[in-house]
Amino acid sequence: MDLQQQFEAAFGRIPFGDSSQNILEANIVYGCVVNDDFVKVTLILPENSDLRSSLPELVEMEVKAIPTIERVVVEVLSEPPQEEEESEPKPSRRAQQPKRTSYLQNYDNIIAVASGKGGVGKSTVSVNLALALIQMGYKVSLFDADIYGPSLPIMLGLRHEKPVVSHNRLMPLNKYGLDLMSIGNLVDESSSMVWRGPMVHQALEQLLRDTQWPGGDFIIMDLPPGTGDAQLTLSQTVEISGAVIVSTPQDVALLDATKAVNMFSKVDIDILGIVENMSFFVCPHCEKSTPIFSQYGAQREAEKLDVPFLGAVPIELALRQGGDSGKPLMSREANSAAADAFLTIAQNMVKQLEE
Ligand SMILES: Nc1ncnc2c1ncn2[C@@H]1O[C@H](COP(=O)(O)OP(=O)(O)OP(=O)(O)O)[C@@H](O)[C@H]1O
Ligand SMILES: [Mg+2]
Repeated sequence: MDLQQQFEAAFGRIPFGDSSQNILEANIVYGCVVNDDFVKVTLILPENSDLRSSLPELVEMEVKAIPTIERVVVEVLSEPPQEEEESEPKPSRRAQQPKRTSYLQNYDNIIAVASGKGGVGKSTVSVNLALALIQMGYKVSLFDADIYGPSLPIMLGLRHEKPVVSHNRLMPLNKYGLDLMSIGNLVDESSSMVWRGPMVHQALEQLLRDTQWPGGDFIIMDLPPGTGDAQLTLSQTVEISGAVIVSTPQDVALLDATKAVNMFSKVDIDILGIVENMSFFVCPHCEKSTPIFSQYGAQREAEKLDVPFLGAVPIELALRQGGDSGKPLMSREANSAAADAFLTIAQNMVKQLEE
């Protein structure tokens, strides 16, 4: 049996309450989206239906019994969402077919900025790389995929801003020519977010799906540290053009960067290259360069791993201040070693994508 038949059989086994129909015959399965081992089923049930409390569990049980399926989310709506998009299934007989989706198809390039280790500068690189691309004339969006600790709203000066909802979709926030979507703008900042694996998947998938992405040349995704659920979800739900791995030059960070490279390779995502952040520090008084975290470590590691080296970003006070104050370095014409580095990195990345 192919996947579609397995789903039809599973839904066919679920009775629609006391009626003689199953839920397929009753036409309440609005959508069924499959991404590898993950499934999201959308049911349409009126607000006052008794079945709202019992059916989701039954559906989850039957669908989970399909051998390739590990995780199931059942969404219950009172009526079909009013989508103008053609790609959304209409509540017709066809809607029950499992459909493989990948989000963000209106972008030419989807870039994941990742690292194994936390605090090495992923978010700083994401923002400034995106702004460097804008300076080069590209249309760019940013997706904050760090649902544990979203920092892009602060870095872009969009703290406490709430996205507008239009036609049931979230409109991205706009700043410095960038379009941004971050969970940080949707939830209360002080509430700590504890996510279990399936919830990570669900939250990211929902953010991708419910946002009215404007499309463009690039979307940069700022990932949380590590090689866990968020990385897996994104590799399954969007067609990533390539990953940019950020590392500081010390051994501890490089070890984790190597893990990240290996993880992306395993899921067949190209590594566009490694960025060495906090590479060196140039004293603003005597102009002497000091390799605080031992310069060239990431560059050597890139050679060892046989992946491109995209460039080295020095430690610069203006970078940290820019991040904290919501006015990133590359949001203006900056004249510094770090600004040059971000332009070089952006150019090298574009070159890698062309190859
Ligand atoms: N090259 C740099 N020069 C000066 N400060 C920097 C540099 N890179 C990053 N920082 C600062 O270091 C801190 C951590 O950077 P950032 O938040 O970008 O790291 P991250 O990898 O995204 O962290 P997390 O893993 O928590 O998401 C920030 O305060 C940032 O401003
Ligand atoms: Mg970050």
